[in-house]
Amino acid sequence: MTEADTDDVARAHQACFEGYFLTQLGPTFLRRYYAEFCRHASDYRVVARCRATQHLAAFVVGTSDAQTHFRSFYRRNMLVILPIVVLRFFTNRLVRGKFRQRMAHVKVALGALLPGTGRRGRVSPDNSDRGSHCPVRLLSIAVTPEFRGSGVAAAVGACFEDMLRRDGHKRVGLSVLPDNQRAISFYKKVGWEVTHRSPAGRWFEKDL
Ligand SMILES: CC(C)(COP(=O)(O)OP(=O)(O)OC[C@H]1O[C@@H](n2cnc3c(N)ncnc32)[C@H](O)[C@@H]1OP(=O)(O)O)[C@@H](O)C(=O)NCCC(=O)NCCS
Repeated sequence: MTEADTDDVARAHQACFEGYFLTQLGPTFLRRYYAEFCRHASDYRVVARCRATQHLAAFVVGTSDAQTHFRSFYRRNMLVILPIVVLRFFTNRLVRGKFRQRMAHVKVALGALLPGTGRRGRVSPDNSDRGSHCPVRLLSIAVTPEFRGSGVAAAVGACFEDMLRRDGHKRVGLSVLPDNQRAISFYKKVGWEVTHRSPAGRWFEKDL
């Protein structure tokens, strides 16, 4: 995945994560969100495209250093994303309802902007790290609806894991909403193990 892919990745995100918090923040936010994964040696990203049409079929992103990733994201994008977040907060009930879960991100965003306080906040990479202390995280994987069930999810997942392995990482974690049965079945099928369950989610980890 390069920055040239981020328009398509943002569109795919909107198609695949309907109703999620980030989706409510809209395409400009999402483009910038995904572009950040192309900027850090500690971030990992893969896209798969259909050979015949070049349509985006799947993507996966993750990081081994969420603090650096998100601090840099907020510092670089604050002027653009702050008005978006404020507007959506007042106009979108879902954003308002889920905002409290994002307070760690608000602290990191403020810390990234104020000199001398940059390392104070500690962000939970996916707002839900209660179930996993694994610093290497898969943050988002999606297959566009027409390519579901094709095996491309396993292919991009394997590619992502190979990249982590090559960099010497030994274990990777993720979390998923408890009602996302298809994703849960997929993770189990490709060797992820449940490490924690709660009403807020399922946490998985995998040896590399
Ligand atoms: C999660 C996702 C990446 C998996 O890709 P996929 O192509 O659907 O995955 P696969 O078809 O290879 O595997 C899914 C498995 O779940 C099964 N499944 C399908 N619907 C299901 C359901 N409603 N409940 C339980 N299992 C289900 C499938 O049969 C398949 O298992 P099988 O190969 O043994 O038959 C894809 O569904 C997706 O993009 N979902 C939306 C975004 C998302 O939720 N991402 C994960 C967030 S953590």
